[in-house]
Amino acid sequence: MDELALRGGKPVRDKPLPPMYPGAMFIDEDEEESVLEVLRSKSLFRYYGPNLLGKVDEFERRFAEYMNVRYSLGVTSGTAALYVALRAIGVGPGDEVIVPAYTWISTPAVVAAVGATPVVAGIDDSLLLDPEDLEEKITDKTKAVIPVHMRGSPCDMENIMRIAEEYGLKVVEDTAQACGGTYKERKLGSIGDIGAFSFQLNKIITSGEGGAIITNDEEIYKRAVAAHDVAAYYRRPGYIPPLLGLNFRMNEITAAILLEQLKKIDRIISIMRKRKREIIAGIADLGLELKKENDPEGDAGVCVIFYLPNAEKARLVAKALNAENINAHVLYRPDAIDGHICRYWLPLLDKKLKYDRKTFERALDLLGRAVHIDVSPLLTEEDVETIIKGIRKVTKALL
Ligand SMILES: Cc1ncc(COP(=O)(O)O)c(C=O)c1O
Repeated sequence: MDELALRGGKPVRDKPLPPMYPGAMFIDEDEEESVLEVLRSKSLFRYYGPNLLGKVDEFERRFAEYMNVRYSLGVTSGTAALYVALRAIGVGPGDEVIVPAYTWISTPAVVAAVGATPVVAGIDDSLLLDPEDLEEKITDKTKAVIPVHMRGSPCDMENIMRIAEEYGLKVVEDTAQACGGTYKERKLGSIGDIGAFSFQLNKIITSGEGGAIITNDEEIYKRAVAAHDVAAYYRRPGYIPPLLGLNFRMNEITAAILLEQLKKIDRIISIMRKRKREIIAGIADLGLELKKENDPEGDAGVCVIFYLPNAEKARLVAKALNAENINAHVLYRPDAIDGHICRYWLPLLDKKLKYDRKTFERALDLLGRAVHIDVSPLLTEEDVETIIKGIRKVTKALL
């Protein structure tokens, strides 16, 4: 047992919290049957086969319906979705694309991969793109901005869209971590020009790997189709796509899983939201500074984050919570490489990234003081009670 737990006496829980793989933990005979159906059809490729079931087509239809948009396209990953999105809106060499200081490294990496320059803008107390700093970072080369809805939490889309419109920027919403979340009742990913999604194992719904884009713009959709399929130019006779694609096509098995996961997404999110509300209510009187939410109703509820006055305290509290069997971590540590943090993009992207010290320092300060606790959809009432008890015990002892 941890030394801190010993000092704190008996832990509030005697076993770890349930794992945080929201969609994956809801996999059951529905996904099994759907996958078997595809295997039995021997038609695993989306465009043809001996007995094609059209699962990818169906998933795209259902996903577009769910997101309330005209078009959706399945791809192989969230990174592929971002890459296809940037190609679809015509980003290329000489362009700058603004990304937030806190996002998975895929976001700046795809900007560099299409030959453009990722420009790092700051985050505010929501840990999401700071609209004020976005405006600061715009130059005459800026072509697009990628707001990223990290940890299920919606960006300040009202101000981001206003600024984008004023400066003529395209908006790509990185919705990898927030599928099903909303901002002012609109689905995340459907507000900008194009939205990108990931269905990797940690995500709200999953097929292990997988991704999608959504858009209301027919031209962007056509370009995305071309960008994600090297043979798109002869699949539709008479149509020559405006760009050279590579292959990021979704397969029928992936879509078979996602069709079932999509039926469960609202249930998963409503449980997480309920559990998050209960935890927050249970610690409301402690005076902890909770992470700012741009739309608390729209937040997908995947975690609780609170700030402590300094990084040292934050690390101590996270350590003590772990000793109580409450899995918590600080979002940035100077001694632990993490691809979500701008500082740790430098070894790979240093020469390609445009950034400044002040933006990094502010982001690292906020992330270094942020204590994060997952809100699994498998949390029971008893789990919630022990999380509340643990936070109360640890903060009382250490703050
Ligand atoms: C914010 C963000 N963007 C992009 C990605 C990339 O998605 P994938 O891992 O499916 O390529 C992820 C997920 O890993 C992510 O969290």
